[in-house]
Amino acid sequence: MEEAQLLDGRLVAEEIHKETREAVQRLRRKGILPCVVFIRVGNHPPSELYVRMKQKKAQEVGIQSEVIALPEDVTQQEVLESLDRLNQDPSIHGILVQLPLPKHLSEKKIALAIDPRKDIDGFHPLNLGKMLLGEKDCFYPCTPLGIQELLKRYQIETEGKEVVILGRSNIVGKPLAALFLQKSKYANATVTVVHSLSQNIKEHCQKADILVAALGKAHFVTKDFVKPKAVVVDVGVSRIADPSSPQGFKIAGDVDFAEIKKIASWITPNPGGVGPMTIAMLLANTVKAAELSLG
Ligand code: GUN
Repeated sequence: MEEAQLLDGRLVAEEIHKETREAVQRLRRKGILPCVVFIRVGNHPPSELYVRMKQKKAQEVGIQSEVIALPEDVTQQEVLESLDRLNQDPSIHGILVQLPLPKHLSEKKIALAIDPRKDIDGFHPLNLGKMLLGEKDCFYPCTPLGIQELLKRYQIETEGKEVVILGRSNIVGKPLAALFLQKSKYANATVTVVHSLSQNIKEHCQKADILVAALGKAHFVTKDFVKPKAVVVDVGVSRIADPSSPQGFKIAGDVDFAEIKKIASWITPNPGGVGPMTIAMLLANTVKAAELSLG
């Protein structure tokens, strides 16, 4: 049997960055300089890396960016005050608070405090609610949006298909289910969301035409979970011990790529699949915020 073809997130993300760069140039000609602010709290090496990657890409496409690094012991009040100042500043179009946050801070209250018009992560309840209703003048979370866009660019139809999502997080599983349920192209799917308390997890997965693994459990999905010719999307990012690497760890996805690529029709590499798409959609959302600010 032929091996699966790659859903190359790096390649597609570069295509999207090119389109974003063009949109930024159009805005600049109208006198708008799209600008995003990233807030990072404390010392969390993966978050530092993600924010650096986002900032580098923003610069490449011509979006102005600033990082606010707050100390680990910053109070909730101080974070809310920073957000208030950024909400009021008309030169700032997008605000992102990198997750996870230290335990004493409330992700819920912080998501609520961001002006929904600047919420490029799409985590504000107003944006999540609008997404559920299928509205367009709002922001959808970047990872679900990136997964849908990746399928779209490879013309992988989802209409009427069995989509099984592993994981029910607020930032991937739940919003992705809502997105695939929409009455629109590259949606219109039959969606099942499977989670840690589900019974017969493997049997659900075996029915999937499109299987999305977003659990954060390294190599949880083995080939016996996958129907031949299924499309497999690996969202997971876990650090696992690797004494042979200089850092002592390596990144592992939720999917056993080497085995599953022998039976799937399409598969995302990881890294190089969903991750770059998330950043591409974040910058596309930033441009959308700047465009919507024109009224
Ligand atoms: N941490 C992991 N994924 C994300 C994301 O999409 N946005 C933010 N703000 N933090 C994250």
